[in-house]
Amino acid sequence: MSFLADRLARVKPSATVAVSTKAAELKRAGHDVIGLGAGEPDFDTPEHIKEAARQAMAEGKTKYAPVAGIPELREAIVAKLKRDNDLDYRPDQITVGCGGKQTIYNAMMASLNPGDEVIIPAPYWVSYTDITLLAEGTPVVVDCLAENGFRITPEQLEAAITPKSKWLLLNSPSNPTGSAYTADHLKALGEVLLRHPQVWVMTDDMYEFIVYDDFKFTTIAQVVPELYDRTLTLNGLSKAYCMTGWRVGYAAGATDLIKAMNKVQSQSTTSTCTISQWASVTALNGDHSFIAKNNAVFRERRDLVVSMLNQANGITCASPEGAFYVYPSCAGAMGKKTPGGKTLQTDEDFVTFLLEDEGVAAVHGEAFGLSPFFRISYATSTAALEDACQRIQRACGALQ
Ligand SMILES: Cc1ncc(COP(=O)(O)O)c(C=O)c1O
Repeated sequence: MSFLADRLARVKPSATVAVSTKAAELKRAGHDVIGLGAGEPDFDTPEHIKEAARQAMAEGKTKYAPVAGIPELREAIVAKLKRDNDLDYRPDQITVGCGGKQTIYNAMMASLNPGDEVIIPAPYWVSYTDITLLAEGTPVVVDCLAENGFRITPEQLEAAITPKSKWLLLNSPSNPTGSAYTADHLKALGEVLLRHPQVWVMTDDMYEFIVYDDFKFTTIAQVVPELYDRTLTLNGLSKAYCMTGWRVGYAAGATDLIKAMNKVQSQSTTSTCTISQWASVTALNGDHSFIAKNNAVFRERRDLVVSMLNQANGITCASPEGAFYVYPSCAGAMGKKTPGGKTLQTDEDFVTFLLEDEGVAAVHGEAFGLSPFFRISYATSTAALEDACQRIQRACGALQ
């Protein structure tokens, strides 16, 4: 009998972290590897945010914070939700956690009973299913078609709902596809949800600010106000503010749920780092002009990667609305033989081939629940992306 808890048998370690770790190991061993697995901007945290942290330390703002977050940060989040999303929340409807990930974890732990179902459109961010399982819920994965921009359709949602459905998990723009829902898409899903009052919506808006080509971001509580009472709006500082290591995420929703999430957090991390919270106040209230500058670079990289991947044999790649990922299909490479004589049967075979033959580390689609695809993060230097895409073209060209 294992000493370890049974609940761990339900959960897989993060595949995206595994790819980054493997790429880093190969690099350390002297191999020429380009890592396209990381889900974080290659840009540094803006200086005015770092300065706010230094100032907080100088002023001795280094003690425990309230579980829900310092009042100043919750006020800044209330102001942000009004300014950017036209949503009215009070500070007692806000909770701040150690990144978006812990906030989602708190929400699942606070709301799921064994067997409660969470509807998760695939491809999905790897942690949604595993956090659901850790919290003893049941993921109900709905495969979304590339032709539909990897978005769940109202018909698919209707078909997935049962009396046990507790949450619909939405993520727009999406990790891993970069696809985003327009206000009309959200309204159509809202119509279905209004017929099923037992289903709440958790919307992960982590990539809200990273959108291109005049795409207008909206969030479901904003466009379907009737769902406000049963929506948990999640967001965080990690991506657009280049603050992945600072560990600040937050959620806004019904006070009973927020209180329950705080209770979970009070018995785990207490709060996120006080210094990070003060820096986040400055991030949310301060200058945002760096975001447009970063997005201009991301957009150029997206266009480069999409164009170069579509020139690779057997690969088709859509141009997504946001985030910093593309999710190309490798269906055209399936069944082909590598120069080493291996027949590619799965997207995992395909990414292993890219890593072993060309030193390109991408993540296989199976990790995100939809095959045969792979995810490329273009949050890395343009030169590295160009090199990586040339290698992918060469690898695909060598398949028989
Ligand atoms: C869709 C999505 N949600 C949440 C997170 C978690 O972000 P954080 O680093 O703030 O925990 C990520 C990070 O990769 C993400 O891609």
